[in-house]
Amino acid sequence: MSDNILKNLRNYEVDDLVMVGFEKDQDVKLPLVNESLDMDRQFRQIMFFYESGIRQLTAKLEILNKEFQFCNDRNPIENVKSRLKSQESIVRKMEKQGLPLTFSHMMANIRDIAGVRIICPFITDVYQVARLLISQPDVELEDIKDYIRNPKKNGYRSLHMIVSVEVRFSDMMRKVLVEIQLRTIAMNFWASTEHQLRYKKERIFTEEMHRQLKECADIMAEADEKMQKLAENLNVSDAENLYW
Ligand code: GTP
Ligand code: MG
Repeated sequence: MSDNILKNLRNYEVDDLVMVGFEKDQDVKLPLVNESLDMDRQFRQIMFFYESGIRQLTAKLEILNKEFQFCNDRNPIENVKSRLKSQESIVRKMEKQGLPLTFSHMMANIRDIAGVRIICPFITDVYQVARLLISQPDVELEDIKDYIRNPKKNGYRSLHMIVSVEVRFSDMMRKVLVEIQLRTIAMNFWASTEHQLRYKKERIFTEEMHRQLKECADIMAEADEKMQKLAENLNVSDAENLYW
């Protein structure tokens, strides 16, 4: 699968430089402080491209949620949040990876420029929503990491997918990469509060603090499982949807 992904990324890079009006081999720097307005405009144009991918996906999610509400009298999606990565954090990530600061390297290597986070009530909803999304013909799964089945060492759980979604512009169709994170409400409670405490911040954490955070994550996982069992007993959700 990874060979395939690399191939897609190479095509993606070239096509999208054409889409935003660049020549194939032109090496364009990312707009940094004090650079010309023109660069800034190009950067905003690329950001518009990613924003359009987010809009396309969130429209799909709204439709799926409403349809499910009609048929099952409940929502498998509690809420959806989206964000575009800021210019500063794109540059920071590229520097950390030792990438040349060009648009082409940005588009080929930074796969979380567009991000959508989907919060669901039950674990089965997470997998069902993920499957419904990628079964659509204009959404393609590029990569998936199941941190629900295989939580991170610190206890972090979520289902991560990189998808490419087709967006129709006035003159052509383009594929836009979007990072999707799917979680239950309990997973989101832990991840959001843990993020506030430490993620990407230079705070010193003792072993004991790590242990307590992990303990909180385990409590959340246990709560999710209990809720899941209740939902199955009440025929609110179907265990067949569990895991990828
Ligand atoms: P990034 O370089 O941070 O994008 O990570 P990655 O490319 O190695 O991917 P990974 O799947 O590990 O994480 C992607 C995103 O998931 C992060 O940017 C966070 O939003 C979220 N995430 C991953 N690990 C944690 C964690 O331990 N705690 C919290 N709160 N969020 C996490
Ligand atoms: Mg990220």
